[in-house]
Amino acid sequence: MSEKKTFYITTPIYYPSDKLHIGHSYTTVACDALARYKRMQGYDVMFLTGTDEHGQKIQDKAADAGVTPKQYVDNIVEGEGGVKDLWKLLDISYDRFIRTTDDYHMESCQKIFTQLYEQGDIYKSVYKGHYCKPCESFWTDSQLVDGKCPDCGREVYEAEEEAYFFKTSKYADRLLRLYEENPQFIQPETRKNEMIAFINQGLQDTCVSRTTVPWGIPVPFDQKHTMYVWVDALSNYITALGYQNGKYDDYSKFWPADLHMVGKEILRFHTILWPAMLMALDLPLPKRVFGHGWLLLDGGKMSKSKGNVVDPVVLCQRYGVDAIRYFLLREIPFGNDGSFSNESLISRINTDLANDLGNLLSRTVAMVEKYFGGTIPAQRAAGEFDEDLISIVSAMPAHVTENMDQLLIPQATQEIFKAIQRANKYIDETAPWALAKDEANKPRLAAVLYNLCEALRFAAVMLAPFLPTTADRMAEQLGLSQAERDFDTLTFGSKTEYTVQKGEALFPRIDMEKELAELAAEQAAKAAAAQADQPAEEAPALEKLELEHLDEITFDDFAKCEMRVARVLECEKLKESKKLLKFKLFDGERERTILSGIAKWYEPEDLIGKNVCIVANLAPRPMMKGKYVSEGMILSAEDNEGNVTVVQFPASVKPGSQLG
Ligand code: ME8
Ligand code: MG
Repeated sequence: MSEKKTFYITTPIYYPSDKLHIGHSYTTVACDALARYKRMQGYDVMFLTGTDEHGQKIQDKAADAGVTPKQYVDNIVEGEGGVKDLWKLLDISYDRFIRTTDDYHMESCQKIFTQLYEQGDIYKSVYKGHYCKPCESFWTDSQLVDGKCPDCGREVYEAEEEAYFFKTSKYADRLLRLYEENPQFIQPETRKNEMIAFINQGLQDTCVSRTTVPWGIPVPFDQKHTMYVWVDALSNYITALGYQNGKYDDYSKFWPADLHMVGKEILRFHTILWPAMLMALDLPLPKRVFGHGWLLLDGGKMSKSKGNVVDPVVLCQRYGVDAIRYFLLREIPFGNDGSFSNESLISRINTDLANDLGNLLSRTVAMVEKYFGGTIPAQRAAGEFDEDLISIVSAMPAHVTENMDQLLIPQATQEIFKAIQRANKYIDETAPWALAKDEANKPRLAAVLYNLCEALRFAAVMLAPFLPTTADRMAEQLGLSQAERDFDTLTFGSKTEYTVQKGEALFPRIDMEKELAELAAEQAAKAAAAQADQPAEEAPALEKLELEHLDEITFDDFAKCEMRVARVLECEKLKESKKLLKFKLFDGERERTILSGIAKWYEPEDLIGKNVCIVANLAPRPMMKGKYVSEGMILSAEDNEGNVTVVQFPASVKPGSQLG
């Protein structure tokens, strides 16, 4: 009896100090694609993820929220819209979820800590250094950059306290040897040199306990200490398998891990401290650690305050889970930083998913239905172009495999889309609609459509690890049985017959311009709502401030206001309001919508085609409970009786002309 090969893959355990954002989703989706891919290849996979729930940051957040730390993390991890819900939404097929507040994990950590202490790898001393609270990191003088935290650039504070230390320094030589003997251990290999340089500048021992942070695992033999985050956190990779606890029993089956996937800022902990801890425990070392780059927004590291469009839940609701998965897997060069933008997301959806993939499926299925009533037999009426299509499609799974085995996820997805594009070209080359005109061409027509169905079957099977729902929907339209979706059945021409059934379009095309405008409006509405949520007492103070300065402004203040001529393209009354008119204007650069309270004085026809004056750089303002967003203001004059006249310019003045 031959045992199945195993594959153990881990994500970092996430800090549930706030809701997770799309950057966290990136690591998890990448691991999920790898885990699904390995399962497809017949591996017995253990895919571990979880949450890292101790430490100062969470203690502080809980105090702010007026709950206990455990209540706080329970809500973010298990509560509605929490970490587990997010992974469910994103179709994350994890096999196990560890929370570092789980009893079995804490029990194991205490045993590990005690063993390391008893054998002399952990010792008591005094810690002097600088501490960065958000990063939960101690830094030495030489590590600070301009006196600030080298990771996040924030203020650090002086810290001195009794603490336990782990003898990382003792393992420097063995670590260097590890990298040398296992060139694959640190991925991408370019990051290996950073780690070697870090060790060569002199490894310090690592502080592994605190006396000032009660929210942590107690050091069993010295209860005023709690374990400092990294021993607790890193151990999760073995405690989750049952190491030193009775909860699970998979340690001997899955350890050592095949792959730890982590962000580049925590690569050091995973390639220096973690292997050193394992060496001290005399345990096997993980086979690979991959340090991926960051997902950036507007050129900077993503931050939760930037608005709802980077909330993965919002994105999934808007575009579907697979569109988001595809974007993350395809767009971000693996190992490097990559940027998120609405434009690039929408353009990926339109070109790859709607045009290439969606069209191939809908055209093929429609033609099988139209010309053959939905069923075609396997056909080998060979013709021109077949050979090229068949060879490209047949070779595709191997190309995907090659790339995935090197963790080149974007390249792997690209290989699938190359085959899809080739199949679309094959439709143009063979022109089935022309073949259909002559009954004598029926066998050839059937062969062409059969080849297209086979190409789509290959795509559906190979897309499954990346876009699981889409693969299911494709299989349904193509009438594939579970067995026919098996990786091992991918021999071109092996399916004997197709009975297809048209379904909904996989990915509807998105109108980029309209979509971007809507997203901007939504974001503005959200920003305004957030502003409205500000404590009420701030409002009078602001008003007062404005009044005090009403008489005089500086020239610079005035220059901040951008006034332009704009032409009224459309104007309509709103059923919801007697006061407002809704304008569509051209401002010299783009069209914009403005709502103006002048319905009492003007009929829409009075103003259509006219040149008015707008304040162009006013922050967009949601109106009518957020149904509309007004992007600016139309200038008018009001007399003492309250009569309003809109400022107008002759037709000869070009829209976009600046006032000043
Ligand atoms: O570091 N782009 O937790 P964490 C890509 N608890 N990846 C990002 C990202 C972004 N914008 N923002 C965060 C921790 N990540 C520790 C781990 S493991 C034993 C302990 C990634 O919630 C980040 O790089 O701060 C890291 O790999 C992961 O999310 C968890 O980050
Ligand atoms: Mg056990």
